[in-house]
Amino acid sequence: MIRFENVGLRYGAGAECLSDLSFHLEQGSFTALTGPSGAGKTSLLKLIYLAERASRGLVTLMDRDVATLSRQELPALRRNIGIVFQDFRLLDHLSLFDNIALPLYLDGQQPKDYQDDVMEMLDWIGLKNRAHALPPVLSGGEQQRVAIARAVVTRPKLLVADEPTGNVDAKMGHDIFSLFEAMNKIGTTVVIATHDEHLAHTFGEQIIALDNGQMRLEKTSPDNQPAAEAQQAGQSTKDGPEPFSLPLDLHDDAHEDGHSS
Ligand SMILES: Nc1ncnc2c1ncn2[C@@H]1O[C@H](COP(=O)(O)OP(=O)(O)OP(=O)(O)O)[C@@H](O)[C@H]1O
Ligand SMILES: [Mg+2]
Repeated sequence: MIRFENVGLRYGAGAECLSDLSFHLEQGSFTALTGPSGAGKTSLLKLIYLAERASRGLVTLMDRDVATLSRQELPALRRNIGIVFQDFRLLDHLSLFDNIALPLYLDGQQPKDYQDDVMEMLDWIGLKNRAHALPPVLSGGEQQRVAIARAVVTRPKLLVADEPTGNVDAKMGHDIFSLFEAMNKIGTTVVIATHDEHLAHTFGEQIIALDNGQMRLEKTSPDNQPAAEAQQAGQSTKDGPEPFSLPLDLHDDAHEDGHSS
């Protein structure tokens, strides 16, 4: 699904903020990305979701060398990726409903076809009765839940989440990771940056620890072990996401936004 070979990234003329990254995330894998603030987690995720291009090395995503992608090819590839941004990036002038529906709308779907899906998402995140509210009146944790709903509503092949539990309490953080795990079990490849070592170790099949732009594989899949044979494409038994029903209910009035994660 994702392969990095000796990848480096520098912004402008500065020093490299990521250096010599080599790993393979196979289809259907669940990877946690850890490391201190400034280590390069968001930068690495940006390379994966095609917001930045590597300064050197090879990045392949879904069997495509991303350096060779044309501008016209990017949107189609990006449609397979659900992204939870560290800063949410909700559109303040659109209702919660429309924020969550946006990727479906942009995909050309008709509102009558996604109305129920979006309401189910709103129900799941405990904000059904605020479908018409605008994001600026929500708490940080509520906005984070909307950002997660928007990222998963399309059932993406690849889910990339940048600190998706940074604004919610420990219980909800666990529930959010459980949702990602449920999506993973039906085939979604998951990559999550988190400061939460406990969640990373509980859920991550593989852990990439970044420190000052360098990586260390802490827990690793067989393919990333030095002795492993070259990975054959499509070896995973999981074969892309199937439709799923929401396995969890984040709606719990006890879930007010703590900052414990
Ligand atoms: N657009 C940019 N231009 C220049 N430097 C940048 C840019 N984005 C990030 N950096 C630098 O790259 C380094 C890694 O930043 P990054 O945001 O990837 O870290 P992070 O691990 O996600 O941190 P945090 O945990 O605080 O979110 C930092 O030194 C940062 O200042
Ligand atoms: Mg970051």
